[in-house]
Amino acid sequence: MTVTLVIGTQWGDEGKGKVVDYYAKHADYVVRFQGGNNAGHTIKVGEEVYKLHVVPSGVIQGKTGIIGNGVVIDPGILLQEIDELIQRGKKPKLLISDRANIIMPYHKILDGAEEQYLGDKKIGTTKRGIGPCYSDKVARNGIRAIDLTNKETLQKLLARILPLKQKLIDIYGIKTTLDRKEILEDYYAYGKRLKEYITTTHIELNKAIQKKKNILLEGAQGTMLDVEFGTYPYTTSSHTIAGGSTIGAGIGPKTIDEIIGIVKAYTTRVGEGPLPTELLDKTGKHLQQVGHEFGTTTSRPRRCGWLDLVVLKHSCMISGITKLAITKLDVLNGLPEINVCTQYRLNGKKIDYFPASIEDVSACKPVYKTFKGWTTMNPASSKFSDLPKEAQTYLRFIEKETDVPIALISIGPGRDETIEV
Ligand code: GDP
Ligand code: IMO
Ligand code: MG
Repeated sequence: MTVTLVIGTQWGDEGKGKVVDYYAKHADYVVRFQGGNNAGHTIKVGEEVYKLHVVPSGVIQGKTGIIGNGVVIDPGILLQEIDELIQRGKKPKLLISDRANIIMPYHKILDGAEEQYLGDKKIGTTKRGIGPCYSDKVARNGIRAIDLTNKETLQKLLARILPLKQKLIDIYGIKTTLDRKEILEDYYAYGKRLKEYITTTHIELNKAIQKKKNILLEGAQGTMLDVEFGTYPYTTSSHTIAGGSTIGAGIGPKTIDEIIGIVKAYTTRVGEGPLPTELLDKTGKHLQQVGHEFGTTTSRPRRCGWLDLVVLKHSCMISGITKLAITKLDVLNGLPEINVCTQYRLNGKKIDYFPASIEDVSACKPVYKTFKGWTTMNPASSKFSDLPKEAQTYLRFIEKETDVPIALISIGPGRDETIEV
């Protein structure tokens, strides 16, 4: 039995959906433990493409999906996702934590209002209400999944919370009146539909661990969007690093056997905030176009740049990553040269750690090591030695620098376009 954690090591969209789906063949449970429908995880099986936002990616393999206590749930979106999967003949086996916080209409309104207020200093959020919902959770003003199943409790919570939220909405100058009755009826109706899935998922998971079941923990976003270790304040509002998984799923840290860090073979970022290796030239365009780098959730173009080993080493250290999964190696095919950032130059000095100050990060200039590119990648490659020699050299360099072995290489979006090392 194993408990395997899969997390993103960069700014999200590393290919977590694809890799989780691949590993899910061995899993009994696949667990989301943080984030919400800001995530967009893509799974491609044959000609079928699934884009999941809240439902764990393992349900496509028919495995039980758990939405853990650390996730924030927009119940309308979740129900829509469940309905779409049912329509496509993939009725998900699903369990939802009774403790998961619920994204309410005012969270979405306030997410938009805060961004508008920030103007050119905006975070570039997905406007899904994620930040305001997590803020309410830690301020102890949250509404949780269990609360949707009891009308009286929900009514009392809304009576306490809505007047304050209305004041905030008014201060931002947004012309919206929160209708207490309508919100009560809508969210109680969601609760009625979701009731069959809502349970003590942490108990279920701990029992499964005792029974030596295989559990796959599916991260959302990536290390550099972590609210503590990312490019704060240009981050999301949850813990995307390994530590977040034990809190967000309700399992002990010592239960995790393997921590797989997903690394896109280059770097992308959606939204605002510094990206030290960003390319605003034709190579950046190549990566964006060949890699189809447009957001799964918001369709925004993703900013692209070279692989950044300062970032990757930071991720490996903070999460204790034990194995790497490299994705989108195919996208580099055809580039004459490939750069990898090994250090930053900051105020005339070379540094090899990720600074805390956002001004310092913005001032960092990457120091590159240049590799010879390749043009001959066989899309049917099934083992490491099938890859072009130049690609092998590139991958071995990543392993050497991070001191973490590569376990998987993805050379296309499909389930089969995967090499186990
Ligand atoms: P996630 O948020 O980490 O799950 O990643 P997304 O699904 O948002 O974005 C990754 C995109 O790259 C999706 O469109 C995937 O289908 C696609 N993808 C994943 N792995 C590969 C790969 O190895 N090569 C190529 N070309 N595309 C990939
Ligand atoms: P997956 O799981 C890429 C980014 C947003 C914004 C910042 C804060 O698909 O990798 P939020 O709405 O969370 O408050 O936005 O975080 N962001 C993501 N970027 N992939 C994601 O998820 C993201 N989820 C949030 O673009 O910059
Ligand atoms: Mg994504």
